[in-house]
Amino acid sequence: MKKSISLGMAGLLFTTSLTSLAAENGKGVPYPEGYRNWLHVKSMLIQPGHALENPFQGLHHVYANKQAEKGLKEGKYADGSVLVFDLLQYQEQDKTIQEGERKLVGVMVKDAKKYAATGGWGFEGFAGNSKTERLTNDGGKSCFGCHEPQKDSDYVYSKYRP
Ligand code: HEC
Repeated sequence: MKKSISLGMAGLLFTTSLTSLAAENGKGVPYPEGYRNWLHVKSMLIQPGHALENPFQGLHHVYANKQAEKGLKEGKYADGSVLVFDLLQYQEQDKTIQEGERKLVGVMVKDAKKYAATGGWGFEGFAGNSKTERLTNDGGKSCFGCHEPQKDSDYVYSKYRP
């Protein structure tokens, strides 16, 4: 009897820690509703053999909301800036490269205080077309690790082109 109670407690503790872990993931970075109507910043095709092949092989488009557009032009991003990395598969067809299924949606949202541990940016990935299936499990630390060298442009790789 005593044994089953303590096992039950362990189960409860386990569930609680899983729940708080899920909340910690991406620290609640929201899905970027409507980003397909934002500024299209740039596109890039990443082919097999590139260092970013896993997991970023594919055709990606980068989008910026109004605040992030200002940031791209000025080099500093106000809270509320959101950048989106929209990654699609691609197919070669009759000497063209055609867009395929969506692989993931990468998001960076600026909140200097909330995301102080990752350069003031909240990082999150959403799988495929899902608005709820989150891809980070380290609060965005591994994303930030690769964006860190871009410190001079506030951890953003993309540049503004008119
Ligand atoms: C191994 C390096 C690497 C990792 C890891 C990485 N990124 Fe990036 N990210 C890049 C590069 C390089 C670009 C610029 C792509 C371009 O120029 O089109 C970029 C661009 C972006 C952009 C567009 C804004 C910008 O900085 O140009 C977003 C949004 C983004 N990444 C989100 C994420 C998220 C979310 C994660 C984690 C799930 C992540 N990234 C992990 C290298 C990385």
